[in-house]
Amino acid sequence: MHKGLAIYPGSFDPPTNGHLDLIERGAKIFEELVVAILRNSEKSPMFSVAERLEMLRELTASLSNVRIDTFDGLMVEYAKSLQATCILRGIRAISDYEYELQMALMNRKLEPTLETVFMMPADKYSYVSSRLVREVAQAGGPVKGLVPEVVEQRLLEKLDPAYKLRDARMIEVLDRRELDRREKKRKKKA
Ligand code: PNS
Repeated sequence: MHKGLAIYPGSFDPPTNGHLDLIERGAKIFEELVVAILRNSEKSPMFSVAERLEMLRELTASLSNVRIDTFDGLMVEYAKSLQATCILRGIRAISDYEYELQMALMNRKLEPTLETVFMMPADKYSYVSSRLVREVAQAGGPVKGLVPEVVEQRLLEKLDPAYKLRDARMIEVLDRRELDRREKKRKKKA
């Protein structure tokens, strides 16, 4: 076992069985593993950061040396703040290699003391990505076996029109509360 802390950064939108497989492998190798969700992603996510945090916490509850966190800005700065020694990333196929190599070398340029460690998930997950899972689920296809059951359930809920309506209403209520709060503040100042 490698002494010290490694971080496994990513978008995890949503977490897949491939991610979970890598987390389990990483947890066997590193003394402590922090799965870190990027907060300031430019992409418009399907799941909020809070939802991803909740799902990953539930999925890794039995792994005592794994914790879930979120980060903003440069990943190497976040890694340094935790005194991490390694960055864990997964490589599924040769198509991942170019992007991962570029990122690893850029991170090394930014922080030479941090090592990127690549691991391969089980080959049965070599074609599974969050993007494809989202695409299949959004088109009404089955995602059983590609994502953990809790994620499958969340996807079904997220894409169910009744739940969508509930989400929209919730946002409306929150917006209204915020407007009320601002109005009260304005009146107080006047
Ligand atoms: O799961 P993803 O989307 O492939 O993860 C990409 C991630 C989050 C690891 C990468 O985009 C990242 O580290 N972003 C933080 C900003 C940063 O440090 N960029 C420089 C990377 S070379």
